[in-house]
Amino acid sequence: MLTPTAEIVGSAARADRGVGAFNVIQLEHAEALVAGAESAGTPVILQISENAVRYHGALEPIGLATLAVARSSTVDVAVHLDHATDTDLVAEAVRLGFCSVMYDASTMSYVDNVAATAAIVRSCHERSVYVEAELGEVGGKDGVHAPGARTDPDEALGYVEATGVDALAVAVGTSHAMLTKDAAVDLELIAALRATVPVPLVLHGSSGVPDDGLAAAVAAGMTKINIATQLNKAFTGAVRDYLAAYPEVVDTRKYLRAGRDAVAAEVARLLTILAG
Ligand code: G3H
Ligand code: ZN
Repeated sequence: MLTPTAEIVGSAARADRGVGAFNVIQLEHAEALVAGAESAGTPVILQISENAVRYHGALEPIGLATLAVARSSTVDVAVHLDHATDTDLVAEAVRLGFCSVMYDASTMSYVDNVAATAAIVRSCHERSVYVEAELGEVGGKDGVHAPGARTDPDEALGYVEATGVDALAVAVGTSHAMLTKDAAVDLELIAALRATVPVPLVLHGSSGVPDDGLAAAVAAGMTKINIATQLNKAFTGAVRDYLAAYPEVVDTRKYLRAGRDAVAAEVARLLTILAG
């Protein structure tokens, strides 16, 4: 059933468990993510990024479809807007009934980031929508997701107090869209952030982290674990294999089913690791 992100992330944080947040691009992703969560018997967060919205040309069709998939699930499912920089898109997600948004002002200066994020938090909280944000590294090309970027615990505490955000994306050694699994997460920093920052911590770019690193990151204090690229690898690999084995196929359902099944299996596996 559709469940507030606050409830899913809050209870995971209180129990020192992780919760998977996986990206929806096509409808098949939403179906696969929920099937995987149902087979693992855990909650899950379905997230749609601003980039995916740009790909579709609109949020509403994929957003409403994802909300419908979430509502029909037997496990708790939240629907989240990921990496939004456009405030109109945030407002639209709220209007459509999304449970939470990530407002990404990480490319702004600290002062501008705080002002813009605090304004988003005020308007989202009036509508009971949970807000995740990220503290950027001024001058860093990829912001907090540059491999060398690190979040300072005291600065993070000040940022959370100044903005009122409900969850914070932090830089602890991961980087977006990695195809290899050799990112080393800084476990000591995660523990220091967890001890200092009063809201749940979010790990972005988790596809580059090996399974034991994910489990260790959760044990050290990370709660919401964002994974996208790894599932695209599973989806595309299965479609590629299917089309190689059956080159005469033209029915799109045949190979998309193979992709969807591969994602569901990988999601069930990941959720079990994250749940500890
Ligand atoms: O916000 C989404 C994530 O940070 C996904 O990153 O594609 O590297 O797993 P990833
Ligand atoms: Zn991300």
